[in-house]
Amino acid sequence: MTEYPQPVDRPLPPAPAAPEAAAASAEASDSAPTPALELRAVSKAFGSVLAIRDITLQVDPGTVTCVLGDNGAGKSTLIKILSGVHQPTEGDLLVDGEVRSFDTPRDALAAGIATVFQDLATVPLMSVWRNFFLGNEPLRGMRPLRFLDARRARAVCRDELLAMGIDIRDLEQPVGTLSGGERQAVAIARAVHFGAKVLILDEPTSALGVKQSGVVLKYVLQARERGVAVVFITHNPHHAYMVGDRFYLLNRGRLTNEFVRGHVVREDLVKAMAGGAELEALAHELESVNR
Ligand SMILES: Nc1ncnc2c1ncn2[C@@H]1O[C@H](COP(=O)(O)OP(=O)(O)OP(=O)(O)O)[C@@H](O)[C@H]1O
Ligand SMILES: [Mg+2]
Repeated sequence: MTEYPQPVDRPLPPAPAAPEAAAASAEASDSAPTPALELRAVSKAFGSVLAIRDITLQVDPGTVTCVLGDNGAGKSTLIKILSGVHQPTEGDLLVDGEVRSFDTPRDALAAGIATVFQDLATVPLMSVWRNFFLGNEPLRGMRPLRFLDARRARAVCRDELLAMGIDIRDLEQPVGTLSGGERQAVAIARAVHFGAKVLILDEPTSALGVKQSGVVLKYVLQARERGVAVVFITHNPHHAYMVGDRFYLLNRGRLTNEFVRGHVVREDLVKAMAGGAELEALAHELESVNR
């Protein structure tokens, strides 16, 4: 008898395609679809440091929500609140329209919120397929004699990677030998396979070149096509513009701009990120140094 791994603590329903999700919640209420995740007036203080203040945002199913900001803007603090690492000092976190409080990242994962951290996403010395399962491998045989079903695990891993358009020839090769983009791709495919409704990606393209970034952006769109609500953290307004449906800009812990696809041009994002006046002041400073 073969037993397959349970995706997360509780089985999650398959992620609905975006139009169905919209239709389903349109029935429930006449207005817009219920956001998969929402923050309402959330602030987080570390002692006397207010890392983020009064943040209100929403993340819809089947869309990509980009959070843009410079170093220290509060991006990591924000995603740590979404993923259960931190609890808000003030304000509410809502999941599928209900106020929730997560004590640990495991609680968030059980609610279908998966986070891919840039460096901790995969174990470099472990093979691709072992990384894909990481403790959730399928087993075969009867209790108490149950064995790892390696053949089945490799097949599931290969199928899932191919479904996302990722073709890795040798699944036995250590993940450390893959490119940065491919490693991110394995982590994204894994989260989607194990039923993530919300996928949070912490700067997945920041260490990558142009081509590899393109690879990762493609998988971001693949996850969106499968109905996942993707939260994409980045410094890079060009990357955000290519995949984003909604854009939030953070500056020193505050939300300074919000844009929606179709009502924003790339230059708006670039300008908002560069912080217009600040950049001019810097140019002046550099000029005087060069003189
Ligand atoms: N655990 C903590 N204790 C004290 N201060 C913190 C803590 N975590 C974050 N901060 C502070 O909160 C502010 C926002 O930090 P955060 O890491 O969220 O920024 P970020 O946008 O992710 O920056 P980067 O792009 O450099 O990763 C910073 O001033 C930081 O020093
Ligand atoms: Mg950070």
